[in-house]
Amino acid sequence: MKLSHLAETLSASKILAISNAVKERVRNGESIHNYTVGDFDPSIFPIPELLEKEIIKAYQNRQTNYPIAEGNPELRGVLSDHICTFQGHQYKPSEILVAAGGRPLIYTTYQVVVDPGDVVIYPVPSWNNEYYAELTGATPCVIHTKAENNFMPTSEEIKPFIRDAVLLALCSPQNPTGTFFTAIQLKAICELVVQENERRSADQKKLYILFDNIYNLLTYSDGAADPVAVCPEVRPYTIYIDAISKGFAATGVRVGWCYGPEPVIVKMKAVLSHMGAWAPNPEQVGLAKFLQEPQCVRDFLVSFRAKLQLRLDRIYRDILKFKAEGLPVDAIAPQASIYLSLKIDIPGDLTSLLLNEAGIAVLPFAVFGAGNAERWYRLSVGTCKEEDITPLLEKFRQVLESSCAVIH
Ligand SMILES: Cc1ncc(COP(=O)(O)O)c(C=O)c1O
Repeated sequence: MKLSHLAETLSASKILAISNAVKERVRNGESIHNYTVGDFDPSIFPIPELLEKEIIKAYQNRQTNYPIAEGNPELRGVLSDHICTFQGHQYKPSEILVAAGGRPLIYTTYQVVVDPGDVVIYPVPSWNNEYYAELTGATPCVIHTKAENNFMPTSEEIKPFIRDAVLLALCSPQNPTGTFFTAIQLKAICELVVQENERRSADQKKLYILFDNIYNLLTYSDGAADPVAVCPEVRPYTIYIDAISKGFAATGVRVGWCYGPEPVIVKMKAVLSHMGAWAPNPEQVGLAKFLQEPQCVRDFLVSFRAKLQLRLDRIYRDILKFKAEGLPVDAIAPQASIYLSLKIDIPGDLTSLLLNEAGIAVLPFAVFGAGNAERWYRLSVGTCKEEDITPLLEKFRQVLESSCAVIH
């Protein structure tokens, strides 16, 4: 049977292909350090207790009707305060839209900004932009970022392509690299966008920034920049994406929100309401209650971040030790999120070698669209038990040593 062009041609997720294959091997009894997924093991990283309690209470109180299409007013009011507290920006509830996680909001941003054939600029490695571009029939303009820039795109790299584009999709802190934009880097990019929009005539489409900051609560050093903070003039062209998925370890709870210029948010609401990708009502009620307890939120974040940072730092430090001993590895200092960028400078299919010889599963940057960074990998610590770190690093060292012995 022939289905739509989209159905017949849409590429399958390369990330899920590898992580599903690993999960299958785990189900079949193999012992694998599965550090592929951008998810959390809830036995190590549960959601905040108060959030859980308030969601259950909302179900028990039968708050199970349809939510309001743009998100419940109470939640949007609380999110307005949350954005002010954590990002320092004033966004009114009418500039905020709630949905079932970050994904539907990213997809809807593409839908309201991009027509088939329009140019979308995005860096690689990056998370899923290639699929959103495909879903909307966009013409992708891919920026191959460099390790020396922490795999963040620069204004110089973006500038040559900006005249043709309608969307610039950025993510900071970034998946898969665990790094973020500094103010200087991001300001230069935002100024390009402002200048380009000033150049365009009134009947031309503007250039928007999709700024995915879903990892903004998970930073381990100061200095992560966001567009409106470094360049207030870019506000009319910036759509922020956020969710509880990563910052509160709540990937399966499904509440996300975006904020940006009201005319864009209104159109996004219209598209989303037909898709019906709303966050479930009890989750919205529970989240609003939880976020109204800032001390609870802060206490959760302090301990959550400490546990993630401990894992990232320990693995990073040992990899630098391996490097100092002459083993062919490198890593980028983890600045944020749950990911470590890891280089294994050995030719060949290292994903399979690590999995088969050491029982370590990581994702190559190639699955994030970065064909030219083939010796770089993403290691996610969301499923990493503290007691597994030492055996992980021992196995990793062994596989590196034996691979070097074969090469020499
Ligand atoms: C950068 C980034 N944005 C958005 C998402 C999707 O978020 P959600 O699970 O809330 O749909 C992910 C998930 O991995 C992500 O890494």
